[in-house]
Amino acid sequence: TAVAEVPTQRSFVLIKPDAVRRGLVGAVLSRFEAKGLSVVALSMRQVTEELADEHYAEHLDRPFYPPLRRFITSGPSVALVLEGDEAIEVVRSLNGATDGRKAAPGTIRGDLSLSNRENLVHGSDSPESAAREIALWFPELG
Ligand code: PPS
Repeated sequence: TAVAEVPTQRSFVLIKPDAVRRGLVGAVLSRFEAKGLSVVALSMRQVTEELADEHYAEHLDRPFYPPLRRFITSGPSVALVLEGDEAIEVVRSLNGATDGRKAAPGTIRGDLSLSNRENLVHGSDSPESAAREIALWFPELG
């Protein structure tokens, strides 16, 4: 019987402005590197309203989007592409639940955030999102 192969994936990760302001870029990046994920691309970006609207296209009509856009454009972020076995799911489990108050201890948000807006990090939620986000943020990787 064939053994299912573990897919090598790329995930788009954004270390958000709260992490930059709090001096936690290194701490967050260290967790991904310590897990064994490889940094394929890394760039500090000031997110514009236009880029925010493209990145969060599926949330534009949600009530939480205006404050989310204000937050994500409030200062520089660090954009990353990480690669490794099942990177998309692995990144999401390292990040923890969206709301830092509910995220499990041991996760990035569970250990370092008390907020569902200022939750330090974004990770792609599916292979389709990862492809879309990587093409948006790092077209040179396409
Ligand atoms: S959903 O409905 O499951 O798709 O939404 P979710 O994944 O929970 O959240 C999507 C992103 O919206 C952010 N979010 C918020 N921002 C501001 N205020 C409130 N109340 C709020 N609720 C959710 C959340 O941090 C997610 O951001 P990303 O960057 O995708 O992690």
